[in-house]
Amino acid sequence: MNEKIEKVKLEFEEKIKSDKGNLFELEKYFLGRKGKVAELFQDMKNVPKEERRRLGAEINELKNYIEKAIGKLKEEQETKEKAQKLLKEKLDITVPGLRLQNGALHILSQTMKEVEEIFLSMGFDIMTGPEIEEEYYNFEALNIPEFHPARDMQDTFYLLGKHLLRTQTSPIQIRTMEKYKPPIRIIAIGRCYRKDPPDAHHFPIFHQVEGLVVDKNISFANLKATLSTFTKRMFGEGVEVRFNPSYFPFVEPGAETSINFGGWLEMGGSGMVHPNVLKNVGIDPEEYQGFAFGWGIERIAMVKYNIPDIRLFYKNDLRFLNQFK
Ligand code: DAH
Repeated sequence: MNEKIEKVKLEFEEKIKSDKGNLFELEKYFLGRKGKVAELFQDMKNVPKEERRRLGAEINELKNYIEKAIGKLKEEQETKEKAQKLLKEKLDITVPGLRLQNGALHILSQTMKEVEEIFLSMGFDIMTGPEIEEEYYNFEALNIPEFHPARDMQDTFYLLGKHLLRTQTSPIQIRTMEKYKPPIRIIAIGRCYRKDPPDAHHFPIFHQVEGLVVDKNISFANLKATLSTFTKRMFGEGVEVRFNPSYFPFVEPGAETSINFGGWLEMGGSGMVHPNVLKNVGIDPEEYQGFAFGWGIERIAMVKYNIPDIRLFYKNDLRFLNQFK
């Protein structure tokens, strides 16, 4: 029996050298319910009673020895695995990080914000209106009846039921005057549409800023002062506005406006609100006068930032957009 115990011990020592990879198999083989050690205990039945005590102690000793050895190996293996795992997950904090691309407002949005802030500081309110507009607001109420030649220049996309994509922000003048009594001092900024084929200066979508002031004793001088102040704030102290007589159905007199920013550059139209327009919204032109203007946002940005082609705004080319971050 002693020999048997010794044999199992030797076998274990042999196996643990070669079979380290499979500690669980090893454990089962020696310590399992039908394992070698259990077998030894089994065999004790066959030895005389007097020896059993001693043998039992010896087998127990072997059992402890095997348990300890396997336990130690298991621990070593776990430590090794952990170390390997850590090594794999190791973070090199000296590698340069990935730079997140920060977004920014589009240059047209920035320009609109700047325009709004200047007029807000001058006491103007900001109005909006629908981009799908009724023909009445976009044309008729602005003194542009059906078949009026001025409609030709503002051909647009017509929808069902006398609706269209607005060609100008001027309809917001009508909507504002229908809703509020004078004194009125507003700007309206927004997207407009025309059936213009794209080229360096035209695009089917563009933006305008519209101004409207209606009160008693309003004259052309107020218009000049307002646009002049805006121009200086937007483009710089030395920049002047020039008014050239021109025709817009909803103003009388009407004027083209240009600024001298390295040569005279046309910015949009303006004038004294036409008495017919005031009548259309129930304001008495004998009692009230108004002035209005409409400038292109793209135009403002192109002049200010020396952008040669309106199509650049809509191309989503990051090389262009990133310049205005
Ligand atoms: N709505 C005109 C256009 O798009 C621009 C304009 C001219 C607006 C004169 C005005 C104005 O308010 O008084 O061509």
